[in-house]
Amino acid sequence: MSRKGMNLRVKLSLLFLFIMASASFSSYVASVLITNRSVQRDIREGQVQIAEVMQQLHQKTDLSMDELIRLSGNPYHRVRKRNGTGGLKLTERQKQALDRKETVFLWEDYILSGKTLFYLEDNLIEISMRGHSSIYFRTELRKGLTLLFSVLIGTIMIIMGSKHALRGIHALHDATGEVAKGNFDVKVKKCSDDEIGELADGFNKMTLELKSMEMLQKDFIGNVSHEFKTPISSIRGFAELIQSGELTDGERQEYAGIIREETERLSRLTSNILKLSKLENQDILSESNLFALDEQIRRVILLLEPEWSGKNIRFDLHLNDIMFYGNEEMLQQVWLNLMENAIKFSHPGGRIIIRLYHTGTSIKATVRDEGIGMDPSTRERIFDKFYQGDTTRASEGNGLGLALVKRIVDLFGGNIDVESQRRKGSAFFIELPD
Ligand SMILES: Nc1ncnc2c1ncn2[C@@H]1O[C@H](COP(=O)(O)OP(=O)(O)O)[C@@H](O)[C@H]1O
Ligand SMILES: [Mg+2]
Repeated sequence: MSRKGMNLRVKLSLLFLFIMASASFSSYVASVLITNRSVQRDIREGQVQIAEVMQQLHQKTDLSMDELIRLSGNPYHRVRKRNGTGGLKLTERQKQALDRKETVFLWEDYILSGKTLFYLEDNLIEISMRGHSSIYFRTELRKGLTLLFSVLIGTIMIIMGSKHALRGIHALHDATGEVAKGNFDVKVKKCSDDEIGELADGFNKMTLELKSMEMLQKDFIGNVSHEFKTPISSIRGFAELIQSGELTDGERQEYAGIIREETERLSRLTSNILKLSKLENQDILSESNLFALDEQIRRVILLLEPEWSGKNIRFDLHLNDIMFYGNEEMLQQVWLNLMENAIKFSHPGGRIIIRLYHTGTSIKATVRDEGIGMDPSTRERIFDKFYQGDTTRASEGNGLGLALVKRIVDLFGGNIDVESQRRKGSAFFIELPD
């Protein structure tokens, strides 16, 4: 067992021991306080009765003083003759009463015991509680032992029981150690349905997240390297060709054009990665202002004119006038990426339908195309960084567009959904909080 777990168990047991001991002690004190008077009265009555019997026997029989004393004792009380009142704590009134030959009862608070003193002729007689062997003390001892044993047995049971109760915590403790070492494959078994069980659930969720984050990060670096390598090696290849010198003017032009395209691709890639990493580390929407959403969408369509006019694509717009408060530039990225895709994956002469409306509680937008569509496995992954479903068009993008869109929509506190069918087309649904 780990050291920490042991500590917790010891602590729990000590806490229990402390609670039991103080509860037992205080209930004992309370019961003494409650019964003190009646116990005192019982003892007193028993002793006074003995004193009276002794006095009567003394008067009516001719038993000797020693015989009287011997006969009067019983398992509870001891009777003896005293030489004076030395060693007794008598008050002035009690002394006077004794002098008047009255019977005096002395109560000793701390040991819960009492004595009766009286004169029989000139002999001072003392009736006291018997010592440790008396039934009275045995009864008291029994009470004390009962309490002591209940504390001890309770503690032993807690020590054993806590092992069971704490096993969930031990499992979590060990698993945390594993995660700290970088092993995200650990799972904690849920032992109970209580808070510790919930903790185990939360822990398992956390390791799952950590694992996927770790994979994403590894993937990301791999993807970035790959995305850079391809255009760079193509640039190098064509640059070498140009350097070799045995080219026609036309060829040189063509190769230089390819180098320029690849350079542009690299620069687009870099700026997208930059945007994404900026968005990753930013979760408050800075630089917000009020603007017309429908206007923004129209502007984006105009911006993309070179791309759609060549493909003869028609736009079907159903845009309500909607004012929106937020970061204008960021939201523009959303429309830009969605429409770029819609155009890219549409067939020539296709139609793109865009809707924008208010639901009362939120703003909804749909970008629908009638292009190539996606199969379910592609649809699952389109928001992943660098994921490109359609390899024939891979060179036209870098798979970061929808990752950016998703991140921005998340930052706005919105939602994005997609519906798509192979060869039928795709629709992206955006919902933004008003
Ligand atoms: N409108 C669409 N129709 C069909 N497939 C789409 C559409 N939009 C996105 N996709 C799929 O999602 C992938 C990821 O899109 P995106 O992140 O914009 O990257 P890219 O455009 O660079 O390929 C695309 O490669 C494509 O497979
Ligand atoms: Mg794209």
